[in-house]
Amino acid sequence: MSMGKSLPHDAAPLHVTGQARYVDDIPLPGNALHLAFGLSTIAHGDVTALDLSAVRAAPGVVAVYGPDDFDEVPDCSPSAHDEPLISTGAVFYLGMPLFLVAATSHLAARKAARLAKVSYDERPALLTVDDALAANSRFEDGPVIWTKGDAARAIDTAPHKVEGRFEVGGQEHFYLEGQVAACLPLEGGDLLVHSSTQHPSEIQHKVAHALHLPMSAVRVEVRRMGGGFGGKESQGNALAIACAVVATRTGRPAKMRYDRDDDMMITGKRHDLRILYRAGFDAQGKLTGVEFTHLFRCGWAQDLSLPVADRAMLHADNCYHLPDIRIESHRLKTHTQSATAFRGFGGPQGMVGIERVMDHVAHVLGRDPLEVRRVNFYAAMVGEALPGDRADVAESAPDRPPVDDEIDLTSRGALAAAPGGASPPGPPEDIFRQKMGAGKQTTPFFMPVEDFIGHELVAALVQSSDYAARRAAIAAWNATSPVLKRGIALTPVKFGISFTLTHLNQAGALVHVYQDGSIHLNHGGTEMGQGLFQKVAQVAAGVFGVDPGQVKITATDTAKVPNTSATAASSGSDLNGMAAQAACVTIRDRMAAFVAGKHQVKPEAVRFEDGMVKVAGEVYDFARVAMWAYQARVSLSSTGFYATPKLQWDRKAGKGRPFLYFAYGAAVTEVVIDTLTGENRILRADLLHDTGNSLNPALDIGQIEGAYVQGAGWLTTEELVWDGKGRLTTHAPSTYKIPACSDRPDVFNVALWGRPNREETVGRSKAVGEPPFMLGISALYALSDAVAACGPGYPALDAPATAERVLAAVGRVRGDV
Ligand code: MTE
Ligand code: MOS
Repeated sequence: MSMGKSLPHDAAPLHVTGQARYVDDIPLPGNALHLAFGLSTIAHGDVTALDLSAVRAAPGVVAVYGPDDFDEVPDCSPSAHDEPLISTGAVFYLGMPLFLVAATSHLAARKAARLAKVSYDERPALLTVDDALAANSRFEDGPVIWTKGDAARAIDTAPHKVEGRFEVGGQEHFYLEGQVAACLPLEGGDLLVHSSTQHPSEIQHKVAHALHLPMSAVRVEVRRMGGGFGGKESQGNALAIACAVVATRTGRPAKMRYDRDDDMMITGKRHDLRILYRAGFDAQGKLTGVEFTHLFRCGWAQDLSLPVADRAMLHADNCYHLPDIRIESHRLKTHTQSATAFRGFGGPQGMVGIERVMDHVAHVLGRDPLEVRRVNFYAAMVGEALPGDRADVAESAPDRPPVDDEIDLTSRGALAAAPGGASPPGPPEDIFRQKMGAGKQTTPFFMPVEDFIGHELVAALVQSSDYAARRAAIAAWNATSPVLKRGIALTPVKFGISFTLTHLNQAGALVHVYQDGSIHLNHGGTEMGQGLFQKVAQVAAGVFGVDPGQVKITATDTAKVPNTSATAASSGSDLNGMAAQAACVTIRDRMAAFVAGKHQVKPEAVRFEDGMVKVAGEVYDFARVAMWAYQARVSLSSTGFYATPKLQWDRKAGKGRPFLYFAYGAAVTEVVIDTLTGENRILRADLLHDTGNSLNPALDIGQIEGAYVQGAGWLTTEELVWDGKGRLTTHAPSTYKIPACSDRPDVFNVALWGRPNREETVGRSKAVGEPPFMLGISALYALSDAVAACGPGYPALDAPATAERVLAAVGRVRGDV
């Protein structure tokens, strides 16, 4: 079986030798045009005059399109038809495209785009949460409110209470490859689009709509992205539409690539928000009631803001059973970039809120925040052992070959002893292991939590990270260290897997076996570095019993697999793995029936393994059987399809089962801060993450490491700053600080919780793309712990906890301010 092997990323040799082809590397005919947008310099108002004569006269310029050049300006929105390709007169944010330039080179187009003379009638811009609230500027008529039980009563009658206000910053995707698209005009008005997109079907749909073409006239191809992180679910639409418009009008190929500053000025980012909370609790820290208000800054257009804000509500509980809860979610419309999907899709924003409550409650009670967290955990999963259930990852893939590039999991802190090892330090079993009622406890949206593994997983991590002893050692060290203070925090993750828009949970695949036995694999998922293509190839190879190298991975193509969903919600391998498996099984069954017929045995007696087909004591090359089957006129091509079962969800009511299952994880982060400057570092991180039966442990560990660092970056150094005019002042790496290699923890232990998914996913694996992002939350609360060592007050750290905010918090807890 090739599923479960730690094979390297299929394109790794291409990446490191520079041969991997991205959209900008695709050779275009010499007459290709290069496009750039001219951008608004105000955040809100009307364009009163748009003089493009100097733009038209600039060297290399072939065509310029303003709003008057369209009967109807094409729409780029993935949701509400509220995003014109260029302004039709009204300006809604600083950086909004006003006109489109087509020139003979990228530079010529960009230079020319600066030459427009634009007059505005400027109006005050709504930039902040407070501005938007005061003006009641929002999407939807009012806030979305979900309630379970009676939170207000539970809080008011509780022995202890906290309340607070928490500002959480947004995040720039900073994919290494910026947004880019290219379009080639074909005969009869048809179009071929290359796009760096997570959502080829959406690009196809929007391009077809813009040009009044049937979708069948537009083909979209995506070989790979240099990162997407959610920023390429919808934000690539404008570039693809612009290229298609120019290609159609001029009959020449057109390409558009945002330079980094333009990319940051034009495109949406993770939503920032303000969280207001109120909680009541008992002496142990068990929450009796919680109220959250989420104030999301969504920007100028709706984009994906509603489902993003929904997902924040869906993760406001994280791992905690909250019988009395009220969540109120405001989706505020502001004159800023339209905030969009970003790894976790609102989940991180919801989760960081309840973790703040846990941290705050623990501070009030003077208890270890981990104890408070555990006291509030959902009841442990109960149920039968699954076939293939096992104790650790090393066992999960006994057939893994001893290849050099394979990661040795046991040396990275994998849990040789746990689970099932000695009982963990911490509160006595009966406090946090409430097995009674397991599976009957429901989330704030009334979904039973049947698969909660937080107790065992956290116990194992407490042990492998030596949490208790290190916590004691840090307290002792802090007592003798006046300037530097250390902090430590363990935070858990529970993340729901499936698209909350239920119909998106489907996927297709197309597989061919050629007469020489080589296999051509195609599915609806896109590759953005996460290793999806390799995982699905391993699934396909497993069905045919061949080496994954025999499976040709091909570009995502709307002409091969139609009506696909975005590669998002971490469900790429869950959905496309199943669809590809179905296609392969269909072909294999036909081959088996054919071979069985020749040997007069039952098809089940035919086995596909080791690159061979074994039947009735005979062993044939897979390629030989493929040739025979072809000659016998057996079809060696098939589609495959998958639709996720068990889902039903009423988003208005906030009730149902939006997710097939949950993915779990936990992280311990240790930090040190300098109390004179606020500077800080992550010293050590220990991560334990649930991937079910990993499809590829090496790729999964890569996802977990990267996600943690990206999550920690969101909450520590990555700060987006808009000035009072609505200009994003952090629009380049000089001012926007993503974690660098030197910022990764010196000690970085990552291990997989290798138990099978209790749901019937492909190979019983679990989705891994987004959930470990939220392991980074432990970095914020480790900083909170370090600040708390400076004085009696509660740090109330806002995010990102930059050096400035850490310094201010140190002053606050000491009572300096
Ligand atoms: N990993 C890399 N290297 N690059 C990316 O752009 N995107 C993340 C995650 N991991 C991303 C990544 C996001 S936002 C999602 S939803 C998933 O990958 C999508 O892929 P999957 O469904 O195949 O996990
Ligand atoms: Mo990921 S934010 O679902 O693209």
